[in-house]
Amino acid sequence: MKLSKYLTSMPAYSPAPNTCKVRLNTNESPYDLPDYLKEEVIQKIREMPFNRYPNPRAVQLRDVAAEFFGVEPSMIMPGNGSGEWIKMLVSDLMEKGSKLLFLDPDFFIYRRQAGFAAMDMHLVSKDPDGFLTLERLLEILKEEKPDFFMFSNPCNPTGQGYTREEVKQIIAACGDGVVIVDEAYNDFFGESIIDYAVTTENVIVLRTCSKAIGLACARIGFAIANPQMIDLINHIRSPYSVSQTAQIIGEVVLKDKKYLKEITEKVIEEREITYKKLEELAAKYPEAMILKPSVSNFFFVRFADSEKICNGLKERSVAVRDFPRAPIPHTRITVGTPEENRALIEGLTEILAGK
Ligand SMILES: Cc1ncc(COP(=O)(O)O)c(C=O)c1O
Repeated sequence: MKLSKYLTSMPAYSPAPNTCKVRLNTNESPYDLPDYLKEEVIQKIREMPFNRYPNPRAVQLRDVAAEFFGVEPSMIMPGNGSGEWIKMLVSDLMEKGSKLLFLDPDFFIYRRQAGFAAMDMHLVSKDPDGFLTLERLLEILKEEKPDFFMFSNPCNPTGQGYTREEVKQIIAACGDGVVIVDEAYNDFFGESIIDYAVTTENVIVLRTCSKAIGLACARIGFAIANPQMIDLINHIRSPYSVSQTAQIIGEVVLKDKKYLKEITEKVIEEREITYKKLEELAAKYPEAMILKPSVSNFFFVRFADSEKICNGLKERSVAVRDFPRAPIPHTRITVGTPEENRALIEGLTEILAGK
């Protein structure tokens, strides 16, 4: 069989198991949908014809999302999670032989998709601490001259973010190359480039409902760009990829801006509280743990013995995500509810004290 060499050489992607009570391992929102919104969803699902395909352009969801993100409906297209857009844009947007540039570390799915699609991929390592100054990034882009540059802002896994003005400089440094700004975590940062992206020819912003919006179960993401680009990338979309159930869930929830603002603010507030507590631990045990500031809903922590820490937390029913072999070994810890974050800090305090 002439199977893909890339496929047969790759370890399977194993999503994190969810056996712990406190789940700080997948960057989800810790807040389940309130009952009044669930009731509205259920009512609409009752009225939904189950025998019909979903609306192929997810028109109602698209219109509500356009209003939510402050763009025209012609500038936005829903997908089956932003993961579907990542896959399609990496593999189908560019001519074969185009130079695709990714940073390392960044969301590892970019390079995985490029590998599957046998694209010409260039990986540039960030600094040894996983971060990259704007100046260095601009130099890299001017040197590399990529045809396609995709990056997450804020970055998964580091939690580092470039401001709007910085992202504009990044876009300018790419010339007429296509720039994909993956804003999966931007609600926690507030430095979105959407309004600028829709005025350019070559910039696509990706957003997801899986993080701040708290709808990871529904698999909804969006590509946002100028109307011509949206028309074009619509050709690579499979028409029924967003289920009608997901369309209904997204439509109901994105209308409730007040609720979404509230839960996002809660996570940001908890990030600041938890960061201070983690910072105290890092100051007390500088040999055991290095912490970096985050503008996202997770922390990038480097433990000297991450296996011991992660196992210790697991015994206390707290799951975090360890990446022991990534280019920069690190542990990613999602911000949870106040109780969950307390459990994290209590557990870490005990483990670091050798209890
Ligand atoms: C940077 C980044 N982009 C995109 C995604 C995918 O999100 P979705 O659930 O919309 O496919 C993730 C998920 O973890 C992510 O971290």
